[in-house]
This record gives sequence, C-alpha cells and structure tokens, in this order.
Amino acid sequence: MEIRIALPKGRLGMKAYGILKNNGYECLELEGDSRKLVFHNTEKNITYFMVKPSDVPTYVARGAADIGIVGKDTLLEENADVYELLDLGFGKCKFAIAAPNGYVEDESRPLIVATKYVNVAKNYYEKKERKIDIVKLNGSVELGPLVDLSDVILDIVETGSTLKENNLSVIEDVADISARLIGNKSSYKFKRKKIDDIVLALEKSTK
Ligand code: PRP
Repeated sequence: MEIRIALPKGRLGMKAYGILKNNGYECLELEGDSRKLVFHNTEKNITYFMVKPSDVPTYVARGAADIGIVGKDTLLEENADVYELLDLGFGKCKFAIAAPNGYVEDESRPLIVATKYVNVAKNYYEKKERKIDIVKLNGSVELGPLVDLSDVILDIVETGSTLKENNLSVIEDVADISARLIGNKSSYKFKRKKIDDIVLALEKSTK
C-alpha cells in the first residue's frame, strides 16, 4: 500500500525528511537538485510531494497526501480537518502580540492588528472579546506599528531579534509553535498500520 507524504519546501521539510530517511523512508531522487515536485521510492512504496508550506494541510485534508509535515502556525491558520498525529519537537517558535516599546492600548476603540495570520488573530481576540480591525500583510509585519498602519502585530517570534531591532516587544504570548505530523482522516483508517509505523519511528527520533 502506497504512502504519500506532503513535505513543506524549505528547512522544516528537509529536516523532517532527514529524520524519515534515517528511519528507512529514504527517497534518493528527492535529494538531488531538481525542480520536480513528485518523488517516488518504488521499492518502499513511498511518494513524496514537495509543496508550499501553507498548502500542506490542504493536500492532507483532501486526501492527495496521506500524511504531511507542517508548522503549528499553518495548522492554526488553515483550520484543516486532519488528525494531528505527533508534535515533532523542532521548528520551535511562538505566536505573539507585539507593540512598540512603551505602548499603551486605547481601549475605547477597536485595536488595529497587522498580521499574516488573519484567522489566528480573529480567534485570539474573539476569545478575549476584544474588537479588532485586521490589516492583512504578507511579510515584514513588524513595519506596521512603526508607520502607524497598526497598533500591534500578531506574528511569529523565534529569536526575538526582528522585534528588538525594530523597537518592538512582546506584550502577549498567543501560542507555542513547532512542527507537527498530520494525517488524512480516512487514510488513517485504511493505512493505519503503515502510518503508525511512521509515527512511532518519528516519535523515537525526535525525543
Ligand atoms: C519571520 C517572522 C518574523 C521573524 C521572527 O519572518 O514573521 O518577522 O521571522 O524571527 P526572529 O524572532 O528570530 O527575529 P520571515 O523571516 O519568515 O519573513 P517575513 O517577514 O517576510 O514573514
């Protein structure tokens, strides 16, 4: 039975592939310098897809891939109907709200929040019952409060150096992020043994 794995292009995907490889799920074709998007190991009956990180949940939810590797940030934003099978424990960072140093909130009006993660922001402030106005940006979100585009940002913080260099600081932690293994719900029913073998192997290697 074939197992199809959606890997996010980039560092996270290559790290996950390295661990899969060490556990017998190698695919030498994938290691070359290629623009191909589909790679097979016919002997082991494994297929890898290289996809844009934010699309991994879509491939898995719709069953084009049986399992996938994805950051919890993407998972929270995309809200896909998949099983979260394992916290891989790498790619650690957090979602946080940050504002200019010394920022004081004006509670009399909606808070203006710049972010790439519109759904995460909506959910977070809905729970707090705080009205917001979202400014969707596609990158360099830290610029928002510096040019009065927004009051605060909701973004990923890893080392904190981007915030620091732009005179911003974290005012609230929103969620912890790390790489996760996700699975398609019906694949998990019909290919359970094969998927569980992968979960176990990854669990051991990432402890
Ligand atoms: C991410 C994130 C922050 C930065 C955080 O941006 O959006 O800007 O990394 O990392 P740090 O805490 O270690 O400084 P990315 O580099 O992905 O680019 P982007 O600004 O285009 O989103």
